[in-house]
Amino acid sequence: MPKLLDTTLRDGEQTPGVSLKPEEKVWIANKLDGLGVDVIEAGSAITSKGEREGIKKIAEEDIEAEICSYTRLLEEDIDAANECNVDSIHLVVPVSELHIEKKMETDKEEVIEKTSNLIDYAKNQDLKVILSGEDSSRADLEFLCDVFSVGVEKGVDRLCYCDTVGVLKPEKTKKDIKELTKNFNIPIGIHCHNDLGYATPNTISALRNGAEEAHVTVNGIGERAGNASLEEVVMSGRKLYDLDFNIKPKLLYETSELVSRLTGIPLSANKPIVGENAFTHESGIHTHGVLTDSSTYEPISPSEVGRERKFTIGKHTGKSSVKAILEDMGVEADKEQLEEIVSRVKEIGDKGKKVTTADLQTIVETVLKIYKEAKVELEELTVVSGNKVTPTASVEIEVEGENILKSGTGTGPVDACIKAVRESISPVADIELEDYRVEAITGGSDALVEVIVRVKKGDKIVSARGARTDIIMASVEAMIEGVNRLMMEDEK
Ligand code: KIV
Ligand code: ZN
Repeated sequence: MPKLLDTTLRDGEQTPGVSLKPEEKVWIANKLDGLGVDVIEAGSAITSKGEREGIKKIAEEDIEAEICSYTRLLEEDIDAANECNVDSIHLVVPVSELHIEKKMETDKEEVIEKTSNLIDYAKNQDLKVILSGEDSSRADLEFLCDVFSVGVEKGVDRLCYCDTVGVLKPEKTKKDIKELTKNFNIPIGIHCHNDLGYATPNTISALRNGAEEAHVTVNGIGERAGNASLEEVVMSGRKLYDLDFNIKPKLLYETSELVSRLTGIPLSANKPIVGENAFTHESGIHTHGVLTDSSTYEPISPSEVGRERKFTIGKHTGKSSVKAILEDMGVEADKEQLEEIVSRVKEIGDKGKKVTTADLQTIVETVLKIYKEAKVELEELTVVSGNKVTPTASVEIEVEGENILKSGTGTGPVDACIKAVRESISPVADIELEDYRVEAITGGSDALVEVIVRVKKGDKIVSARGARTDIIMASVEAMIEGVNRLMMEDEK
């Protein structure tokens, strides 16, 4: 089974603008270990005190994966890595003439000599060594083999071919990896960048032709256009070539979300496997197809990778998706009503606008004539929060003509408000919060925030939303809207 070396915490952290705190690195490392990666490149120990702290902490965790630190051809890099108690070092040696002459301002002889000495230096400290040829794809293969031969002679544990600037083609990958596996009797790895969008195909090509370890990052983050993405390599390997990894695919999405959140690098909506739209259907034909047989338009089942299928509405929407969404909202519509709803949805979509859940709810209420006076209304809300007080909210709401004032405390002001709302309506309804989601509609700290909640009463579940520039108000509005909808349901 091929192995995965995850370099999210080293090459991934080299993404412009990304800098992780030690505790964030530990959090991600544990997640990667749970996911099943075989090796975690935790960073480059020489970089800074904080970096060393992070790597050391990761090495102290109860983690099954091998923990590795990146090093250059310098004793101080190896010393710094060893001080962090890592299992292995990733010793990177420039092998192309361009890198040797222009970047290192040295020559091939010196590279060979240093490589030999530094491997001895690391081995004397009982470190495993992964020897990587930086810029292998633009190097003379004969020289790469010379460097690797020295490595093997000196007892390195693994070798790695690096496509440092993402210019490799699957055909050359196959040829070069075959040559390396013919010449060397230890595991060969592959490290690909995505400058031309070929990182995944080249990685897969290497694995199919004898490479035993692939270097990847979560969400493909990394220098410039990034590295081969872990989720793409795992899923395309599995689906297209029967390549299996020691990975639990169901955890791919939550790992991806964590990395996106902590690095602050958002996922593009159309990113394979983990993007917002990867399992979302809008067009009528697709939705109908998926509802009839999901394989019509889903090459991977969403649940296989920890996702859920979604239907969105817009000008391409057909009856099937609206029907599925209405079912989700607990609403039934006959054929004519459904057609009318679809036509109104398309009308908004045709104006180039996004059709929001609230738009759909209003349309449905109008078409089905189910709108009734709100039973629960917010009268007053007061929230106290800060670094020295327990977040507390007091809410006064009018329930069927009677004013009720209740308060709640929580882990934060939103949590406190939601508890206060639930408490205040408890005499008339026992409402549970099933799901809570926030979306910033526009950018900036003054952005309009949309809060979407799913609330439950008995066996009825409804979705509701609130949209305000104030997240607390948007949350309370969404909760109260949900309560009204559930109470409306009761009356049907
Ligand atoms: O892309 C690359 O060549 C690297 C090496 C330094 C391993 O990240
Ligand atoms: Zn790299």
